[in-house]
Amino acid sequence: MRCSRTRAGLTGMMVSVAVLAACDRPIGPRERFLDPALVAQGKEIFRFDTFGDEKFWTDTLRMHEVIQQSVTPAVALSVGLKVDADALPAEVKAALAAGQVDLNSTATTLALLRLNAVLGVKGEVQTLGGRDTLVRVGITCALCHSTVDNSFAPGIGSRQDGWANTTLNPGAIVALSPALTPAQKAVYNSWGPGLYDPRFNFDGLSTPLVLPPAYGLLGVDKETFTAEGPVSYWNAYVAVTQMHGQGNFSDPRLGVEIIQTPDLVTPKLAALREYQLSLRKPPPPPGSFDVAAATRGEALFEGEAGCASCHAGSLLTDVNAGILHAPSETGMDPRYAARTTQKAYRTTPLRGLWQHPPYFHDGSAATLGEVVEHYNRVRALGLTEQQKRDLVEYLKSL
Ligand code: HEC
Ligand code: HEC
Repeated sequence: MRCSRTRAGLTGMMVSVAVLAACDRPIGPRERFLDPALVAQGKEIFRFDTFGDEKFWTDTLRMHEVIQQSVTPAVALSVGLKVDADALPAEVKAALAAGQVDLNSTATTLALLRLNAVLGVKGEVQTLGGRDTLVRVGITCALCHSTVDNSFAPGIGSRQDGWANTTLNPGAIVALSPALTPAQKAVYNSWGPGLYDPRFNFDGLSTPLVLPPAYGLLGVDKETFTAEGPVSYWNAYVAVTQMHGQGNFSDPRLGVEIIQTPDLVTPKLAALREYQLSLRKPPPPPGSFDVAAATRGEALFEGEAGCASCHAGSLLTDVNAGILHAPSETGMDPRYAARTTQKAYRTTPLRGLWQHPPYFHDGSAATLGEVVEHYNRVRALGLTEQQKRDLVEYLKSL
């Protein structure tokens, strides 16, 4: 029996001795203790480090000009950018609550950037000739992999690091740059919210991926949808080749070798990794699923629906056994895999599913109901309507 930690913790039901025994196994190499000092350093890096990528976002894309001219807070919120309410002084919060802050003025955007209050965006504002001027801007990991709890207003609240920013529209943001051709802008604008293609700048193809969560990865051997490598592999790849930070990344499989001095990325990877591994998946909101149905769904998942043959073990993936799946095995679109070194998809470690629709690498299933319908069709499972509902309730509980 699999160690069903979520079920035991969530429902408070009696837990069988067999489950407890499975959960109580000694801490193996994958479940090591995390170093709190390194976690704390990693948190700062995750939230605030641009790795010197201002040279791209400012000098190449000239985003500082666009932001200064036209990105009001209203525009920023509409493309899914988030504001950290905890970074705002009490008087700013009071003014916001009283409707005394102009959300249609770029001066307010600059004030927020000065306060370091826009998730994943770092700006340097200077007063030049008596006028606030955005002189440098860069991005951090928090842009795509964190959001806020909306506790103050929609898009404004406390940070939730590691949560997929499902409403962020990275393509639309990049497309604001005056440095791009209309053809490039058209591709960036075609992706839509919650999607990003991390290979477009290499192969010119466009099959965007959903922004995945960065939590719940402790113990997972390989990250990314196509299991290119461990978490630091992706961190170096994205920091150097996508964020355009200054550092080293090489992968002979891709024929990519980027060496930049000084390397502002490699020395930070250990701390960044420790922080990501410390991020737990968020529990499902209370009452968000039917416990009895989820329990039946779990039995189906483990049994006749055959899900656990791939979504195996407590992490719900077989990737640690070195297994990947040809797109045809799960009826996936093969086009993204074909662009990668692996040509196959990793069984996604299911975690916090309720938080990050849509599902599958390309977002082809809008809801968990569509996920189940997909498997029912491509794997000819013959599930009844009741069984489909039970499986969905189980998925909502993960
Ligand atoms: C522009 C948006 C964007 C930025 C910025 C970004 N990522 Fe990602 N991240 C993605 C996308 C898209 C994927 C999916 C890539 C894939 O699977 O091939 C991903 C994948 C990941 C994963 C793997 C999740 C999994 O399920 O295996 C982790 C962890 C992660 N990112 C952390 C980071 C960190 C740390 C940084 C900063 C160094 C960062 N990301 C910067 C978009 C972004
Ligand atoms: C043959 C192996 C295999 C089987 C069987 C399987 N899966 Fe998957 N699952 C995968 C792979 C591979 C992916 C990643 C596909 C992608 O992203 O394109 C995946 C992705 C998912 C996702 C999307 C997760 C996310 O964060 O986007 C869900 C949900 C899921 N599976 C649920 C199930 C359920 C429910 C069943 C049983 C009905 C099942 N899987 C059966 C291999 C499998």
